[in-house]
Formats: sequence, structure tokens, C-alpha cells
Amino acid sequence: MSAPLRGRIALVTGATSGIGRAIAITLARAGAQVVATGRRAAELELVIGETGPCEGSIRAIAGDLDDPAFATQLVREAGPIDILSNNAGTLSYAPLLDLTDAECEAMFRTNVLATLRLSRQVAAGMVQRGGGHIVMMTSLAAREIYRFGVIYAATKHALTAIASGMRLELQGQGVRVTEIRTGMVATHMRDRISHPEVLATVGSRKYDPLTAQEVADVVLMALTTPENACLDIVEMRPRKAAT
Ligand SMILES: NC(=O)c1ccc[n+]([C@@H]2O[C@H](COP(=O)([O-])OP(=O)(O)OC[C@H]3O[C@@H](n4cnc5c(N)ncnc54)[C@H](OP(=O)(O)O)[C@@H]3O)[C@@H](O)[C@H]2O)c1
Repeated sequence: MSAPLRGRIALVTGATSGIGRAIAITLARAGAQVVATGRRAAELELVIGETGPCEGSIRAIAGDLDDPAFATQLVREAGPIDILSNNAGTLSYAPLLDLTDAECEAMFRTNVLATLRLSRQVAAGMVQRGGGHIVMMTSLAAREIYRFGVIYAATKHALTAIASGMRLELQGQGVRVTEIRTGMVATHMRDRISHPEVLATVGSRKYDPLTAQEVADVVLMALTTPENACLDIVEMRPRKAAT
């Protein structure tokens, strides 16, 4: 089964970087017609180049998911979406009292509100067509709170509630919802950390993080289970980070 997603249209957010980028490439190579989105248009072109000739296809639609008008245009231009992989997200990692209001609001705006807005629009089409699969990239921070990541964890707690609620209301109408709660993944997400206490904590970790490709492989697995077998929640962490 070299192209298990052949003919399926997959909208992948956060596709310019890290986990979303690996998912976009993996799904295209598994035969999907991928619509890759993120704000950086030039980066999306590099993702298309990196994908190369494959079983599926990949095209870019660049824009800011915080902008409701862009989200609507994206859904319209993508076509009848079978798979939505929500990865766009942002992290400001700092002690609670050192975060600015703007940083807190930005995390809620993108991680929760933009993801909710896009997911509801896509889900409405899936319900009309009688099926689809939505993947929510949350985090282990969706059920645990970590020092310095309190507001980020709050956004992921909100997203896990949304994923669970969508599953409750939509699964009976053919829409599967898989939540991926991953531990630390080697991406650019933590590049902007500058707080010394936070840097020391991150630097003291003694295990190798997951790779974005490892997460993408798990997403592909969730998308290719038999139709009646739903991977509702997947928790994954690096081997040496077992708790
Ligand atoms: N890395 C980890 O350890 C880890 C662990 C658990 C969960 N996660 C989750 O995995 C997801 C992907 O994270 P990552 O580690 O791959 O981070 P990343 O490399 O920083 O990628 C984040 C992606 O989100 C996109 N994005 C951010 N704001 C956006 C906006 N307003 N509109 C459209 N796109 C936006 C970025 O694209 P542009 O900048 O081009 O817009 C980028 O493609 C996030 O939801 C994150 O919370 C990550």
C-alpha cells in the first residue's frame, strides 16, 4: 500500500516549519493532494521543492490564520477537504509574571481561536459530505502544566476540550477527530526563548527530543487505520522521557 491517501485532499497548517512541514511532505508522499499553509510564502515553496515528485501533490496557499478572512479564503480555495491537520501554533516560554499580555493573547489567538475557527469551517463541509478526519496537534501540556509554559498549557487544555467536543458531536456524522499529544520535538518552536531561567531548564534535559518526522509518521498511522477504528488520542514522548 504505497499511496494509502491517494485522492484525498489534506489541508495542513503550520506547514512552513517543524511538525506541520514534516506532515505535509509525508501526506503528499502517501498520495494525498496536500494544501500547505503558513504565513511565509517563500518557505512554502521550499517545502514543495523538498517534497519532490511523489505519489500525491502539494500546493501552497500562504496567509495568516489569525485573520478570519484568510481562513475562509483558504477553505474555499482548498476544495473538498478530507483531512485537516492543525499544527499552526506559537509558544512564549517564560515565568507567568514575566509574560506580557500581548504574548498571552497571541498564544490564545493562534493556538485556540484560529484553530477553532478553521476547524469549524472545515468540519461543516465534512459533515455535508459525510466524512473526514481532523487532527489536532496539542501537547502533553494539554493534560499537565509545566513551569514557564502555563499559558501555552492553558491553550492546549482548551484545544483538547475542543477536540473532545468535536469528536462527541461529529463522529456520528462521519468525522473522526484525532488528538496528538506529543512531548518535546526538535523544531524551531523554542528558538525565541531568551529568559535565562527557562534556557537553563530546557538545557538541563538529558534526552533527545522526538523528530518532526516521528510525529508525522504517527499522524499518517492515525489517518490510515480502518474506518471504524478511531485513534482518538495519541500520547507520545521521547523514549528516555518516560514518566
Ligand atoms: N516542538 C514541540 O516540542 C511541540 C510539542 C508539542 C506540541 N507541539 C505543537 O506542534 C505544533 C507545531 O509546532 P512546531 O514545534 O512544529 O513549531 P514551529 O516549527 O515553530 O512551527 C509553527 C508553525 O505554525 C505556523 N504559524 C504560527 N502562527 C501562525 C499564524 N498566525 N498563521 C499561520 N501559521 C502560523 C508557523 O508558520 P509561519 O511562521 O510561516 O506562519 C509554523 O509553520 C504547534 O501547535 C505546537 O504547539 C510542539
